[in-house]
Amino acid sequence: MAKSKNNQIKSKDRVKDLAEVYTNEREVNAMLDLIPLKTPDTIIKYKYLEPACGNGNFLIEILRRKLARINEKYSAGPLKTYEFFIVRILTTIYGIDICPENVSESRERLTKEIEKQFQEVRGSEVSEALLSVIRYILERNIIVGDAINATEKMAVVDYKIKGREIEQRFYRFSDLSKDKAMPMVVVPHKHFMKLAY
Ligand SMILES: C[S@@+](CC[C@H](N)C(=O)[O-])C[C@H]1O[C@@H](n2cnc3c(N)ncnc32)[C@H](O)[C@@H]1O
Repeated sequence: MAKSKNNQIKSKDRVKDLAEVYTNEREVNAMLDLIPLKTPDTIIKYKYLEPACGNGNFLIEILRRKLARINEKYSAGPLKTYEFFIVRILTTIYGIDICPENVSESRERLTKEIEKQFQEVRGSEVSEALLSVIRYILERNIIVGDAINATEKMAVVDYKIKGREIEQRFYRFSDLSKDKAMPMVVVPHKHFMKLAY
């Protein structure tokens, strides 16, 4: 396989097969800056979907922006509140890529970013319980799929937040453009720390 020193590509073969050319951080941020936010808190609840997420260059910057806001608001408050908002923001970040390796790398980058910032902000490690919720959401929100030709084969979850409880509504991706999309499965409200069980 032909290798390249350019960090925007992994190999010439992958550019040919997957059109895989990564976007630089500066361009990612310039594009994200174009999305208007009504208030500084809007960033917490806005949902973002990257249909060709690669190794997560957009997803990681979206996460950083969301973390920056919750760090500002909740870093000094109760641990459970901070943990809830980590989960809350993660439920709003979605990615699809046709390449399984890219999906794994994206999930890994987001997990590591949360672990790093959690340590910086709270001075302790993310608990195993929270980590299992983080992994649960990332496995459902960042998925392998063909976002152009096979949208009927992918399921996406919409999370409905009620207090500290979360309901999960699973939709066929191709149904989301319909006026009244019906969920395929609804998982009733659960406490956010119990999402993975
Ligand atoms: C140009 S790269 C962009 C990656 C990332 N968005 C970025 O800007 O750094 C294109 C990505 O699209 C993925 N891809 C190609 N065809 C796809 C398809 N039909 N559905 C989903 N992803 C696809 C490739 O695997 C590759 O990771």
